[in-house]
Amino acid sequence: MNTQTHSLRIKDFNLVIFGGNGDLSKRKIIPALFHRFAAGQLKVDFEIFCLSRSPQDRAAFLKEIEGFLGKVDAKKVKAFFEHLFILEVPKNSSEHYGELKSRLEAHPGRQSIFYFSVPSAAFSEICTALKETSLNKENSKVVLEKPLGHNLKSSEEINNIIAGAFKERQIFRIDHYLGKETVQNLMVLRFANHLFERAWNAENIENIQITVAESLGVEKRAGYYDKTGALLDMVQNHLLQLLCLIAMEPPSSLNPDTVRNEKQKVLESLRPFTKKSIETDIVRGQYTRGSSNGKKQNSYLEDIDAYDSETETFVALKTYIDNWRWKNTPIYLRTGKRMKKRYSDIVINFKELPHNIFQDTQHPLRNKLIIRLQPEERIELVQLSKIPGPGGYRFKPISLKLDFIDSFKDRMPDAYERLIMDVIRGNQTLFMRYDELAAAWRWIESITDHWRKCTPLKLYESGTWGPGDDILEDNTEWKTSPK
Ligand code: BG6
Repeated sequence: MNTQTHSLRIKDFNLVIFGGNGDLSKRKIIPALFHRFAAGQLKVDFEIFCLSRSPQDRAAFLKEIEGFLGKVDAKKVKAFFEHLFILEVPKNSSEHYGELKSRLEAHPGRQSIFYFSVPSAAFSEICTALKETSLNKENSKVVLEKPLGHNLKSSEEINNIIAGAFKERQIFRIDHYLGKETVQNLMVLRFANHLFERAWNAENIENIQITVAESLGVEKRAGYYDKTGALLDMVQNHLLQLLCLIAMEPPSSLNPDTVRNEKQKVLESLRPFTKKSIETDIVRGQYTRGSSNGKKQNSYLEDIDAYDSETETFVALKTYIDNWRWKNTPIYLRTGKRMKKRYSDIVINFKELPHNIFQDTQHPLRNKLIIRLQPEERIELVQLSKIPGPGGYRFKPISLKLDFIDSFKDRMPDAYERLIMDVIRGNQTLFMRYDELAAAWRWIESITDHWRKCTPLKLYESGTWGPGDDILEDNTEWKTSPK
């Protein structure tokens, strides 16, 4: 069993992208591979096959991808493109997999990685066709993009289909938030530094807030988004995964299953919602007209071209982790589209000190740790400092800042670069195991079973912070002040 990413060798591979001419493939998957190639990390035999249902013009396809690579060395781009092929596969059936099979089997020593960048409705026919052509070999892997279902039952069905063709050790369920550098740094912050772990518990922490705010609206994904909403699109996966990293117990090693066992325990300990707590501890909203990014913006209904929709584009909730470490510590999760700014952060609000010896200050004696995930990546410790000069102790909160861009001058790799390299290496640490996914769904269902009846949809103006204040306890506020 592997324990460290860097100790796993990169082996020769074929990467097959189902949905190869789709947006994700062109914007994220192929550019991620290019950047690792340009960095000299792909010194192995490899080929990338982009599967397309209709004929594609190779030159136009490559040009489009080039547009997503940024400023890069043209020679390296040319060399990389020699590894890239477009295969036209009009249907997912064994009769149409002939060319794919012969291309893959031309190099029997290479592992095959099948990247399902298509809606999960297509998984069944792809798996059947792969099985019928015997392409699901022992050393093959499959990469799955969310959404994996819309509730526990449908996610189980999808899982059964995949499990009919691949074993759990071959399945990589991607959550791109886990590939973000600052997110990985959460593990380092907590488990490679002495300072915080001692105070990381209900005794010292007042509450935890996780915000993922987007300034964009639903864009061109109306069909998908209106069936999904913010709770399933963001909370069920990205926010819960962030929470797992913040709240889990220290794993005994970096062994993938050891880490995932700890994350799983957090998900299992989330307090399920009841009809009553849904009324008080969740708010859901939908954006109306307003302005953001310096432009006038449409309402959600205008964006999806509909008269009516109950779908939430914003959700904020208060929850608890019922275990020893976090007993009764409120955990606030908040996410929304068309908010004032794009930013994500995790705020750890420490408790007020038990006794104040500085009688002439009104300032509450407490600290705050802010882990900013985007747009800039930074860790900030807000502590009180004395304002210089005579006249007693006057305090001001000052931030100790660790800016990643200043400390590490290199370009920040995109989340997909790390995650795809981990797939090639076979390291599952940053990928969700099925039991994690099922636990997340069980908790989400405690909300979705009742919330449409119990929580009215609140409208919020585009370019604002949304209606998240309603669930806060006294003396708590959302931190919403990115400069
Ligand atoms: C995706 C969601 O998983 O994450 C999108 O489907 C969302 O709706 C996106 O916009 C946010 O990702 P990031 O990396 O831009 O924060």
